[in-house]
Amino acid sequence: MVKIVFLERDGNRKECDTASGVTMLELAHENDVDIEGVCGGSLACATCHLHIEEGWLGKLEAASEEELDMMELAYDRRENSRLGCQIVVTEALDGLTVSLPKKEF
Ligand code: FES
Repeated sequence: MVKIVFLERDGNRKECDTASGVTMLELAHENDVDIEGVCGGSLACATCHLHIEEGWLGKLEAASEEELDMMELAYDRRENSRLGCQIVVTEALDGLTVSLPKKEF
């Protein structure tokens, strides 16, 4: 099992255990984390925007050009921004903490 921690906008910390292979967006939805994901993961909305905890970005697959383009629409975009629908959980991400941006769009 892999443990992923979501820090929600209200400061709530939600620890989620999962198997590899799901996306961060799917995991968030399964655990009632308040993330939209309006387009269902088809890289057309940026409402699955997450901030990745320092030190973890290098463990993620690099963002595609399409993801980078879509992130330009994300509110509160930072150097550690990624789209949750594009991150597939692997064993290497055990312990990863991500936070939800303060606000979407
Ligand atoms: Fe729309 Fe990720 S859910 S881009």
